[in-house]
Amino acid sequence: MTPPQDGPDTRENDGGASAGEPEQKLRDKTVLVTGGAGFIGSHLARALVGDNEVRVLDNLTTGTPDSVPDGATLIEGDVRDETAVKRAMAGVDVVFHQAAVVSVEESVADPSRSHGVNVDGTLAVLEAAREADARVVLASSAAVYGDPESLPVTIDEAMTPRSPYGADKVAIDAYAHAYDATYGIPVVALRYFNVYGPGQRGPYSGVIEAFLQRALDDDSLTIHGDGEQTRDFVHVSDIVRANVAAATTEHTGTAYNVGTGESVTVTELAAIIREETGSDAGVHHEDARSGDVRHSRAATERARDQLGFEARVPLREGLSHLINQRREITQRSESVEPISQEAPDNGDG
Ligand code: NAD
Ligand code: UD1
Repeated sequence: MTPPQDGPDTRENDGGASAGEPEQKLRDKTVLVTGGAGFIGSHLARALVGDNEVRVLDNLTTGTPDSVPDGATLIEGDVRDETAVKRAMAGVDVVFHQAAVVSVEESVADPSRSHGVNVDGTLAVLEAAREADARVVLASSAAVYGDPESLPVTIDEAMTPRSPYGADKVAIDAYAHAYDATYGIPVVALRYFNVYGPGQRGPYSGVIEAFLQRALDDDSLTIHGDGEQTRDFVHVSDIVRANVAAATTEHTGTAYNVGTGESVTVTELAAIIREETGSDAGVHHEDARSGDVRHSRAATERARDQLGFEARVPLREGLSHLINQRREITQRSESVEPISQEAPDNGDG
């Protein structure tokens, strides 16, 4: 087995889940992954690159070039730039549109920027796909539901977003339906729940990454609000499988939830991470975040029935895999480090 690595590697890092039913495959296509230098997009690009021609369009705001797998072509550009998007889309069979301002907090701080990237950028992708006659899979979000009336939340739940980010995703989700219905290009929107896995980085990378970093450093974990809010955490390898299923389904012009159907509170998550890492880190509470959704858990039947997709990686399994991988990386970097950095004064002269 290839040693685990910090960078995204979907094929090796399936959270330890074992395959059951046969997988859908995408082969011999030209695919474009917008946001393919980011967390989810790079996993997707890596999973597709052996069997397809893969292009990545990314402006590297949060993504990094080293996340783009060998064999994929990185086109540095902005999804709001219609000319750049059309150029990247020429000859493309399927586009997986992942590029976005991903942080709810950031959208609250600057809703115009979030709208520009998330909505105008998506429209540019849809227009270019229409011209190229490409199939589209859009990254929507559970944030479209806001605080749902009932749980688990079904696809028919009213969309009442609590944040500008959620409103952006409502808009693109609606455009998915409209483009499929009006222009006849197959479009599917995938409403991801809370995604985690290897390669999630940066200051707005989500609660699992934030807790893991702190727990491994024995720093106190910050819980926003009372910690009783719930989330459905889905492993990135499952997100990749859902995207491939969406790229091959006949059931287009619609949206699907992509979650596990299980949820935990943020307080429970902190406890699991402390337990799995063996950390002595404490927890402390800060103010609840503005725009924060209270409860979230996916109804998964529609994705199962129409896409043939079910999440496979249970939270504890995905977490323990992630933690082991981190430890191996730390050990490896410690064993090869030393020399030129500030060498410790060991008294040898
Ligand atoms: P990410 O920040 O790691 O990746 C986003 C990528 O888009 C980055 O590489 C970034 O550089 C790129 N990008 C940003 N603005 C761009 C622009 N204007 N032009 C071109 N590229 C641009 O985030 P992620 O977690 O991989 O999210 C991918 C998608 O999944 C997003 O659409 C996000 O809204 C959606 N989503 C994520 C989650 C989650 O929990 N991570 C949940 C639901 C939905
Ligand atoms: C996340 C995604 C968003 C996606 C949505 C789908 C990120 C950065 N955002 O938003 O793109 O559309 O899921 O459901 O991945 N929290 C803490 N302490 C921390 C960090 C977070 O208590 O240090 C809390 C937050 O207040 C929130 C919960 O943990 O209640 C989850 O937060 P976060 O991981 O940022 O994700 P969402 O806001 O749910």
